Amino acid sequence: MKEVGKIWMNGKLVPFKNAKVHVLTHALHYSTSIFEGIRCYDTPNGSAIFRLPEHVDRLFNSARLYSMKIPYSKKKISDAIIKTVKASKLKECYIRPLAYYGYGTMGLTPIQNRVDVSVSCWEWKMGESKAGKFSGAKCKISKWVRIDSKSQPMQAKSAANYSNAALARMEALNSGYDEAIMLNNNGKVAEGSAENIFVLKNGKITTPPLDADILNGITRDSVIKLLKANGKKVIQKNITINNLFSADEIFMTGTAAEVKSVTRINNRKIGTGKIGPVTKELQKSFMDVVMGQDKRFLKWLKFL
Ligand SMILES: Cc1ncc(COP(=O)(O)O)c(C=O)c1O
Repeated sequence: MKEVGKIWMNGKLVPFKNAKVHVLTHALHYSTSIFEGIRCYDTPNGSAIFRLPEHVDRLFNSARLYSMKIPYSKKKISDAIIKTVKASKLKECYIRPLAYYGYGTMGLTPIQNRVDVSVSCWEWKMGESKAGKFSGAKCKISKWVRIDSKSQPMQAKSAANYSNAALARMEALNSGYDEAIMLNNNGKVAEGSAENIFVLKNGKITTPPLDADILNGITRDSVIKLLKANGKKVIQKNITINNLFSADEIFMTGTAAEVKSVTRINNRKIGTGKIGPVTKELQKSFMDVVMGQDKRFLKWLKFL
């Protein structure tokens, strides 16, 4: 990681190298943190943060689901994000707001500790996450089941969800695949380790509903709205493993992944085994949106 710019910690911009926490920080031991992943794109009209208010809303919603009180307003956090990106002097970057129970007392009960907030960003060039963009990702259906929403709120983007996701990602990578596909406790398709999933069959596009123990992805929402604006409907309904194997095309969406094609699952070809035409077109139209080339969605960009 290139250590450039500043990190916003509890209201102050500190040099990247100095953004440190104590080893007894509560969140390090008990996963008591929530966070966001946001992109800033280097568009022809300047740097722009994609769907900033929606990400800030989701951050606060994640905190609420864990009864965590972020000691700043949404406006203050949005301003902190913009300030941090500007201070970094990066034209395109990945932005990571984080709220966590900090250092104070040790023990499971988090509420005696203060909620610390930071905003970091680092260089993230277009096409950084390559798997699936150009050649199509090879995915493995994970043996790890997505955490059930009866166990913890899966609509929250909380660190607590990610040991499950990291196990699935590592299992896939260690077996020679690019990414995992996770099933939920009902045996239905949930999502990738860090992406939502869409299936195309006979011209119909389907994605699992929000109650399938998935994250309410902002790229998922963007793609549903973009496809709708382009005359294509997305149906939200449960997807089975058989639906995956019989699909014409499969693609995944996420802030880091953008739109990536899935061309093999468990070593079986999906469709022709190549990136399909609908996915290809969507990849292009999504990049037009984030790069400010689609006037209909300029409202999603916050120019700096
Ligand atoms: C588990 C999971 N699902 C889906 C997504 C996609 O969400 P978004 O499009 O908001 O990045 C992510 C990305 O962070 C994720 O971690």
